Amino acid sequence: MAGGGLLLGLIVVLVCFSQTCSAIITFSSLQRTLVITASHPQRLLKAGEDKITVTWGLNQSFSADSAYKTIKVQLCYAPISQVDRAWRKTVDNLSKDKTCQFKIVKTPYTTTTQTFEWKIEREVPTATYFVRAYALDADNQQVAYGQTTDAKKTTNLFEIQAITGRHVSLDIASVCFSVFSIVALMGFFFAEKRKGRKAQQ
Ligand SMILES: *[C@@H]1O[C@H](CO)[C@@H](O)[C@H](O)[C@H]1NC(C)=O
Ligand SMILES: *[C@@H]1O[C@H](CO)[C@@H](O)[C@H](O)[C@H]1NC(C)=O
Repeated sequence: MAGGGLLLGLIVVLVCFSQTCSAIITFSSLQRTLVITASHPQRLLKAGEDKITVTWGLNQSFSADSAYKTIKVQLCYAPISQVDRAWRKTVDNLSKDKTCQFKIVKTPYTTTTQTFEWKIEREVPTATYFVRAYALDADNQQVAYGQTTDAKKTTNLFEIQAITGRHVSLDIASVCFSVFSIVALMGFFFAEKRKGRKAQQ
């Protein structure tokens, strides 16, 4: 029995090493010890133009944890922008989670409050977002987190409008306008023609 237990332990350790243990971290197991805020000029932001200022630090209700080595701040999809999009799905198993896909900053952990100003990258798609920070240990594994929204991810959300989205809608608007003017012109032309014919009769 003891031999079996040892063997099992060895297998678990080996599996852990081969997968660097990332398989077993779940979001629900993390403590929310970080406080993070994101400030931005307005609720609707433009990718490639507007900036977000993030400020984070340890919640004073918790004592400093020596395991915290790095802070990774990310831009994350709010539930409303995840509906019907499997590629943005939230999975408790963090190695499969796709909620947070854009890196804002990754920096060594310090006990003092830190601030970073991030210009929204041009690739960010149109969606509703929030910001989350993870505290990583020496193995780059998540050990704690903090986020700008509540647990249900419904408060303090903001929207980003993608560059392409803006251009596409502008293009659609101009095409619609051209079609409208051609139709209007044709209508005017035929109306005039009919009027002319009536006058001849
Ligand atoms: C988490 O995902 C990894 C990688 O796909 C998988 O190997 C592991 O079994 C999963 N762990 C849990 C607890 O679901
Ligand atoms: C700090 O943590 C406590 C305990 O979890 C919580 O009640 C409080 O709201 C947190 N403070 C901030 C600013 O998030």
